[in-house]
Amino acid sequence: MSKIHAAITAVHGYVPDYVLTNHELEGMVETNDEWIVTRTGIKERRVLKGEGLGTSDMAVPAVNALLEKRGISAEELDLIIFCTTTPDFVFPATANILADKIGAKNAWGYDLQAACSGFLYGLATGSQFIESGKHKKVLVVGGDKMSAIVNYKDRATCIIFGDGAGAVLLEPNDEGNGVIDSILRSDGSGAPYLHQKAGGSVRPATHETVEANQHFAYQEGQAVFKFAVTKMADVAAEVMERNSLVADDVAWLVPHQANKRIIDATANRCGISEDKVIINIERYGNTTNGTLPLCLWEWEDKFKKGDNLILAAFGGGFTWGSIYLKWAY
Ligand code: UT7
Repeated sequence: MSKIHAAITAVHGYVPDYVLTNHELEGMVETNDEWIVTRTGIKERRVLKGEGLGTSDMAVPAVNALLEKRGISAEELDLIIFCTTTPDFVFPATANILADKIGAKNAWGYDLQAACSGFLYGLATGSQFIESGKHKKVLVVGGDKMSAIVNYKDRATCIIFGDGAGAVLLEPNDEGNGVIDSILRSDGSGAPYLHQKAGGSVRPATHETVEANQHFAYQEGQAVFKFAVTKMADVAAEVMERNSLVADDVAWLVPHQANKRIIDATANRCGISEDKVIINIERYGNTTNGTLPLCLWEWEDKFKKGDNLILAAFGGGFTWGSIYLKWAY
């Protein structure tokens, strides 16, 4: 009997309407379009506006469109893995909230926190439930409302992040397509360089933590850049080597969208030419867990059955990894 792989059988995304341009940011902090474009590749990002709206509210339209595309009802879903760093609440899990909003009455679910590598971790873990035969339909969602934890007075972070969400459906495949291999890594000693100082159990919210701006994402950009640029490139190259893939075998490189310079370094390290690298950072910035599913969604029409895709990410934690998958439709 041929091995069962977990294949992506549908993908969809959602970005909010509001476009926050570099020009608008110039009026908010001491920055300029030229600096942002040169250092990051970002021209604009989306922001979810509206009282009482959270990350799940971006996942709902993405998932509903995905289900319609695949021609299945939410009740057929077995499991929802919601990869996010900006959950609707500390608890319950955003996966549970999403399940209720879309009517996934027969699914269980959990949130997965691995910062910008969350969607990769989710794809790898979700695949296990398919490969083991335990489940037939696993929904992996990646999304973040980064605007909820971005300090729009801090020019080092506010220019980078944006809001967005995407989702993929995983189903069993016996044709040899789907997730073939994954390498996932983490190093908790990187925590001081990228984290949120308060709001967790170590430092719960107080007037003081709010006044000290400790409920926002804190990043030491240069330190993170140094790790990201080598680790993401190395792990993508490692997954290729382990599967005897050379650059010509790879149809698409799907990198986390944190910084255009990190994307270019990863592509160079793997020897993959620019025309095969998926980049939408100029329009969405870094949507954290949203970047990879948004890339897959926007490039879906270009993928062919059997295409070799290399996904790679790096994020807070530190966390990083790479997945080799064969597109299944
Ligand atoms: O997705 C999760 C993982 N995160 C990442 O992978 C992000 C990795 N880091 C980065 O992408 C980059 O480090 C940043 C884009 C965050 C910053 O770029 P950089 O080239 O590392 O800049 P820098 O922090 O070294 O700052 C260079 C200069 C500084 O001025 P001086 O000291 O040279 O006078 C900063 O104060 O640029 C200044 N600067 C800015 N200038 C205009 C910092 N932010 C800005 C800004 N506009 N927004």
